[in-house]
Amino acid sequence: MTVFPILQDKVAIVTGAAMGMGAATAKLFAEAKAKVIVADFNDEKGQAVADAITAAGNEATFVHVDISKSTDVQHLVDTTVKTYGELNIAINNAALAPDQAPVDQFDESYWDRLMSVDLKGTALCLKYELQTMIKQGKGGSIVNISSVSGFRPQPNNMVYVAAKHGVRGMTKVAALENGKHNIRVNSLAPGAIDTPMLHQSLAETGQDPQQVADALSELGRFGDPREIAQGSLFLASDMASYVTGTTLAVDAGFTNM
Ligand SMILES: NC(=O)c1ccc[n+]([C@@H]2O[C@H](COP(=O)([O-])OP(=O)(O)OC[C@H]3O[C@@H](n4cnc5c(N)ncnc54)[C@H](O)[C@@H]3O)[C@@H](O)[C@H]2O)c1
Repeated sequence: MTVFPILQDKVAIVTGAAMGMGAATAKLFAEAKAKVIVADFNDEKGQAVADAITAAGNEATFVHVDISKSTDVQHLVDTTVKTYGELNIAINNAALAPDQAPVDQFDESYWDRLMSVDLKGTALCLKYELQTMIKQGKGGSIVNISSVSGFRPQPNNMVYVAAKHGVRGMTKVAALENGKHNIRVNSLAPGAIDTPMLHQSLAETGQDPQQVADALSELGRFGDPREIAQGSLFLASDMASYVTGTTLAVDAGFTNM
């Protein structure tokens, strides 16, 4: 796919950009000529993504962040503005992998860890990104990565399902409050996408990959991380200038069938 420079002069944060969909999103946004902040707590892999982007002749900087820590998220947003002058786009993508236990056996410590990242971490990103965008007075676009699990439950994933429903809820509140600032806030619900997180879940459950792909996709295959990046590119760009408060399902039909 040819990508026109539709993010020219935009500055974008992508969290969880050291691998998987976040890495694909950072690379695609840089091809679309955004200046990209590659944000992750995996320093080695995150720096490698930023290096690959700059080696291709585009603009990126790695910033260490643990999104569950308020001071880290503030530092991320401050560093973005110091490095590139402003913040126009944020893709809040970082998350922990789904739990694997029935409700009557759920792991309380994993609840705390996952909620502190997938839910509170996403909320902290929203908080400090919005503060900066409101202060700038130039609008903006934020995409929170939810999941098909934010619409349809899967067994043994109660903690993850609850968090991903929550991501859609906080997205709507942020959209309600910030339309007056011309800041659009949307979420994106990926289906089963070929990333390290998916492979971790398949390994833990011992499921056959093709059977899972057939069950979760009308196209009979896992999605490529770049196919999710393309959905985020649409929502982040001015092509989606009249889209806010919604969830875009990029899931080969799963949530609508
Ligand atoms: N893979 C799938 O099939 C799938 C399906 C639906 C939704 N999702 C969602 O898509 C997003 C990306 O998933 P993925 O499969 O690319 O995941 P992944 O596990 O491959 O990558 C997640 C990235 O987030 C980073 N990260 C985790 N916790 C962090 C923290 N506290 N602070 C900073 N960085 C942190 C990791 O280091 C990693 O680079 C997630 O929100 C996930 O829940 C994934």
